[in-house]
This record gives sequence, structure tokens and C-alpha cells, in this order.
Amino acid sequence: MAETTVDRAGAHRAESAPLLQMQQVTLRFGGVVALNEVSFEIHRGEILGLIGPNGAGKTTCFNALTGVYQPTSGQVVFDGQPLGRRKRYQINRLGIARTFQNIRLFQNMTARENVLVGADAHHRTGVLNALFRLPRHRREEAEGHRLADELLELMDLGHRGDDLARNLSYGEQRRLEIARALATKPKLLCLDEPAAGFNPVEKQRLMDLIRRVRDMGNTVLLIEHDMRLVMGVTDRIVVLEFGKKIADGRPEQIQNDPAVIAAYLGVEDDES
Ligand SMILES: Nc1ncnc2c1ncn2[C@@H]1O[C@H](COP(=O)(O)OP(=O)(O)O)[C@@H](O)[C@H]1O
Ligand SMILES: [Mg+2]
Repeated sequence: MAETTVDRAGAHRAESAPLLQMQQVTLRFGGVVALNEVSFEIHRGEILGLIGPNGAGKTTCFNALTGVYQPTSGQVVFDGQPLGRRKRYQINRLGIARTFQNIRLFQNMTARENVLVGADAHHRTGVLNALFRLPRHRREEAEGHRLADELLELMDLGHRGDDLARNLSYGEQRRLEIARALATKPKLLCLDEPAAGFNPVEKQRLMDLIRRVRDMGNTVLLIEHDMRLVMGVTDRIVVLEFGKKIADGRPEQIQNDPAVIAAYLGVEDDES
């Protein structure tokens, strides 16, 4: 009975059911409490920003919701299902895709092939079908290629499809990672500092692309260290500091939150 409304971004979302719920998630590494009873929700069709100073627990949060680490306590509920002890590939199949803080591409494959790897993960035909090139396999192959080219186009890489990943610029490689993650047709796309190492112009350009991805109906969780950058692109922001959630709200609320301002004061601006 999900009621569909149109939020200010024009995206449709089911008000009644969050896509993802972090419920009191705690994650310890020995003596380090990387996440301390963190709870928040991600709604369908929104861009949620996850921000906080270095070491705040942002990447750990990603790792907890993509199955890299199991929470010490608490749980993650995705699309109505507790993730439990599911493995990474199982969670990926449920519909969570991510990019990494450090680029992970197949450097000796073309840009298009890198995206096709993502699309292939989604196909149902097995090795036999592929061997005999049965109709369904051929159809999926054609669909895969079409999707790959659309995603390359979306990420401003339409002209780079035939180039090896290693010959792409740093910025192009980062965008290629997003295209590859989208090729799995995820319900939730998680981006871990996708603009790291970009200059301000490139950063703004990437934020515009991320908004375009959202406007197509995708749900995005965006980790970013630079608070100013996420202000313009996110629908809602969750702020972590020392593993604890210290704020959760609309960008304009976050911007004026004394706890957030204090967390960011005295932290040197390490973007450049
Ligand atoms: N695999 C790990 N083993 C031990 N400590 C870790 C591990 N991963 C993260 N941490 C610690 O957890 C805290 C949060 O790290 P992280 O999630 O990477 O922060 P952020 O992404 O916000 O910069 C840090 O103190 C970090 O050193
Ligand atoms: Mg990190």
C-alpha cells in the first residue's frame, strides 16, 4: 500500500517503506569502535549524503551494508529484508552496488567491457547457453551492449567505449566505475568519495552527473568528505563523527547544526 508521492526533486518514492534501514549498527575492530549504534534510513529515489571528518566511519558504514563486514550488533534491513550474514555477492544480487574509495577497474579491458562485466553479473543464461549462442543469450548480449553504451553516454564516456581502461584519465576512470556499478541495475548505488582527487570544476561536474543518475529514478548513497560539495546535490544528509551519528536532516538544517559545525571546525580542508 505504498503511497507514491513526488518529492521536490520530482522523483517518485514510496513513502511508507524506506529502501534501507541501518538499525543501531555497531562495528568494532578490536578496541576501535568504528560505528557506534548508528541508525538511519535511505528513501527510494533520494540522494543521501554520508559525511564526516576522516576516520568518522563512513567507509565502514558502506562495508557494513555491502557485506564486507558483519555488524558487531544491530542490523541492516534492505528492501524489507534483514541482510543477516549474507555475503558480498548475495547482497550485490539483492540490488546494492558500490564503487570504492580506490579505483578498481579491469585496466586491460576496454571501457565498454568493464561496463559489460557489470551487466553480465545480471544475466540468467549460463555457460551452455553461451556456448551454443542460444537465442536468449544472444538477446541478452545485445541488451548488455545497448545498456553499456547508454551508461557510457550517461557518464560522458560515449567516445571512450573502445579505449582500454588504463588509457582513460583519472576522472574518466572514476566515472567508468559508476557506469559499471549502474550496469548491475542496482536498487541502491553507493559511491565512496567519487570526487576524491578532483579539482573543484571536476567535482561540480561529477555532482551534476550524480544528480542526473538520481533523476533517472536511482537511489544513491554518496560518501563525501567535503561538506560544501554535498550541500548542492543531496536530498538529505547524515553526519558521522567518531563512529556516531551526530546529525540527520535536509542540507539547510545540517549546514546550521552546531554539532556539525563543531565537528568540522579545526579539521583542516584536505581537498585539493
Ligand atoms: N579493517 C579495519 N581494521 C581496523 N580498524 C579499522 C578498519 N577499517 C576502519 N577502521 C577504523 O575505523 C575508523 C573509521 O574508519 P573509516 O570508516 O575508514 O572512516 P572514514 O571513511 O569516515 O574516513 C577509523 O578509526 C579506522 O582506523
Ligand atoms: Mg573512507
